[in-house]
Amino acid sequence: MGSYQACLSVLFFLLCGLFALRQSFGIRTDANETAHLSVNASEASGWKIPETLFGLFFEEINHAGAGGLWAELVSNRGFEAGGPNVPSNIDPWSVIGEESSLIVSTDRSSCFSRNKVALRMDVLCDMEGVKTCPARGVGIYNPGFWGMNIERGKTYKVVFYITSQDSVNISVSFASSDGSQILATANIIASASVVSNWTKQEVLLKATGTNPNSRLQLTTTRKGVIWFDQVSAMPLDTYMGHGFRKELVEMLASLKPRFLRFPGGCFVEGEWLRNAFRWRETIGPWEERPGHFGDVWMYWTDDGLGYFEFLQLSEDLGALPIWVFNNGISHNDQVNPATVLPFVQEALDGIEFARGDPGSKWGSLRAAMGHPEPFDLKHVAIGNEDCWKSNYKGNYLKFYNAINKTYPDIKIITNCDGSSGPLDHPADLYDFHVYTSANNMFSMAHQFDHTPRTGSKPKAFVSEYAVTGSDAGSGSLLAALGEAGFLIGLERNSDIIDMASYAPLFVNSNDRRWSPDAIVFNSWQQYGTPSYWMQQFFAESSGATILSSTLQASSPNSLIASAITWKNTNDNNNYIRVKIVNFGGNTVNLKISVNGLDPNSIRLFGSTKTVLTSKYVMDENSFREPKKVVPIQSLFKNIGENMDVVLAPHSFTSIDLLKKPYNPVITQVSDVKASV
Ligand code: AHR
Repeated sequence: MGSYQACLSVLFFLLCGLFALRQSFGIRTDANETAHLSVNASEASGWKIPETLFGLFFEEINHAGAGGLWAELVSNRGFEAGGPNVPSNIDPWSVIGEESSLIVSTDRSSCFSRNKVALRMDVLCDMEGVKTCPARGVGIYNPGFWGMNIERGKTYKVVFYITSQDSVNISVSFASSDGSQILATANIIASASVVSNWTKQEVLLKATGTNPNSRLQLTTTRKGVIWFDQVSAMPLDTYMGHGFRKELVEMLASLKPRFLRFPGGCFVEGEWLRNAFRWRETIGPWEERPGHFGDVWMYWTDDGLGYFEFLQLSEDLGALPIWVFNNGISHNDQVNPATVLPFVQEALDGIEFARGDPGSKWGSLRAAMGHPEPFDLKHVAIGNEDCWKSNYKGNYLKFYNAINKTYPDIKIITNCDGSSGPLDHPADLYDFHVYTSANNMFSMAHQFDHTPRTGSKPKAFVSEYAVTGSDAGSGSLLAALGEAGFLIGLERNSDIIDMASYAPLFVNSNDRRWSPDAIVFNSWQQYGTPSYWMQQFFAESSGATILSSTLQASSPNSLIASAITWKNTNDNNNYIRVKIVNFGGNTVNLKISVNGLDPNSIRLFGSTKTVLTSKYVMDENSFREPKKVVPIQSLFKNIGENMDVVLAPHSFTSIDLLKKPYNPVITQVSDVKASV
């Protein structure tokens, strides 16, 4: 090869490299494209989107609940995480003081029959004498879930159970992670006669300082033996006072979810049945719950966030609860249809707990927990991702028949995909899960276009969707755009799709088991990934009317749009919302025409344009830059017959047109004459 040719091939490879870089990092080109979106404003051209279309899927994964949504600050509050055999690991509890001053161990002396392990603390030092305790005392501390967020001026309720043969004087404090800064403290003093049997102690601590990496300390300077069990610390300020971490639920509430699917996912199945979530073990007084080790996501939960709390959370969010229960199948073992009846009974009991009369066996337990009114449980899912397993269909039918007979109004969800052909078993809805690349997800906007429309049942429940892998990173703009395209496809097919939810919802950044997730948090901060913000664009879609629309574009494979009309119940105004995803790297000049709507009937003030985009398509939010990729709203001024909108490369745009209220002008005949 001559040097000229060599130069040419180097140049060629350089250009190829640059092109590849541009593709993978989404570097923008200046090329403009044009497109035209024609929307038919007549509601008769479309149909009503199901009231339930967009909701949430909460799974106990990534410490989403324990150490997350559930505001309990103490991790391993009952000392059960180390297993039932003693001595056991008390992690993350640890000791304050030297070995010569105290010995800490576990035994099975708890007063709670379902969680027998208690902590025994032998204090060897005393207030005076040869072996004097350090002034700050000796004892135990709990660092919470990677640090407790203690905030100045806020009050926390600390509850624990103790017993001792001697009188006790215990300091209960919140302190910095090394114990040097005390943020709140109180003393529990009790005589031997009071604590000779297990007694409950309760104290309110008001913090005088702020530290997001605090710990709870239980210390003493008195010699003796004290047993501790079920130690809890909760902020008083929780969402609706129901124990949920406020800022996290507020993020959920702003998505206006219409349903809440819970508690998993694989969490429901377990690697092994013996470690699956069993609702009966998660209700009643928190102290009596045994807790369990979730062996799929590999961590212990005290089950403070139990079945009752999930139902309560759904109610607090104004969302329908969708309970996924175990169908006798885990990842590695299965009960067969001949022996599945006890599991069927367990599910029936769970339904009775949720909505049975307060006089019924299980309904009375719900009433005793403070909720005599039934919860609005109308949907249950039989298992999770189990369709392909040998016992699924056999087990499913046992559950289906029993539930359908006792609760004919309950909608039953199968794990088997009914999108491409009829199912061989009865169901009201079928589960559809998709985790894929951004390109695939965007093109899956058309996944349901060809699903047969014959018969009304079963409809689809896209209960888990997300862009994953290298396109998603820990939550990129690119992922959100792929998903936005997919959701527009779901809206457009919402005659056969009833529900959809992103997965997973939460990640505690200290225990990332699955990435990406919609909301990232630690003990004191939280932010939404672009996929979280993308969902905000669909908050008004459930129950709205989808309008017929046609998009003509020079690059139709990277543009998708939908239009809805919806009523804002806060201001009683009607809006038309047009959403467009520009998945490509070019700027698009879009002309929107709304046929059948007089442009004069749109209000200038109150009409807005909201855009989700960023400099680079792989941009993500982070604790340092939580608002790097968030929707930006501005007034939309180009109102007219043809509305020009510039769609930035890699962007999601929503145009909200505020329709003027209909104020018919009553014209007098004489006025007409006068004006002629
Ligand atoms: O969302 C994470 C996991 O993905 C869910 O537990 C499971 O249903 C799916 O495989």
